[in-house]
Amino acid sequence: MKLLIDDAHLEEIKKICEFYPVAGVTTNPTILAKIGGNPFDTLKKIRNFLGEEKELHVQAVSRCAEKIVEEARHIVELLGANTYVKIPAMPEGFKAMKILVEKSEIPFTATAIYTPMQAFIAGQCGASYAAPYVNRIDNMGFNGLTVARDIQQIFEKNSMETEVIAASFKNSQQVLELCKCGISAVTLSPEIFIALVKNSAIDSAVEVFISDFESFAGNDKTMLDFQ
Ligand code: E4P
Repeated sequence: MKLLIDDAHLEEIKKICEFYPVAGVTTNPTILAKIGGNPFDTLKKIRNFLGEEKELHVQAVSRCAEKIVEEARHIVELLGANTYVKIPAMPEGFKAMKILVEKSEIPFTATAIYTPMQAFIAGQCGASYAAPYVNRIDNMGFNGLTVARDIQQIFEKNSMETEVIAASFKNSQQVLELCKCGISAVTLSPEIFIALVKNSAIDSAVEVFISDFESFAGNDKTMLDFQ
């Protein structure tokens, strides 16, 4: 399961990338609104930091298919390889996906997914990823984890190459549940990323090991001080 960061604050992205294995960054218009200004200033800085090998997902915001296609080309032209254009999984979006698949090589992520059927249609339209919104689905009175698992199963049973990139999490337990069933990818806010391995038992175990070592070796001593 690939781990991506769902955020556009460069300093936050850098902090998470320093400590964790990160496959890329996802953004959406709401996330970009938190930064403001020219969105490409923000996105180009993120791309420069990530390099070409990591994924960057950027959403098109036009309402009609032809404009979505234009936006997709513009986004990839400015942000380069490994940029996935996020396209809402709805009729105009499906039309745009079909045009992109017929006419170009631009990879795209079907987004705003609340139902398995949206993901299935997007997959048939050639989406590289489908992004179910786990927590938002829960808030509607349905089960977001079940929807994400169903989508994964639909892709497998129908021999589709589309991958699930589950999004919208409120806790690390939701992430663990999807990890157990082999979901392809999740995108997480920095807070949830840090919460994946946040446990005072781990910290105190490590502290006891260090202080036990120092009790016979001396303060601040490590294995480097011995031959
Ligand atoms: C991802 O594609 C979505 O834009 C995002 O993860 C939604 O998360 P939220 O429900 O926390 O806003």
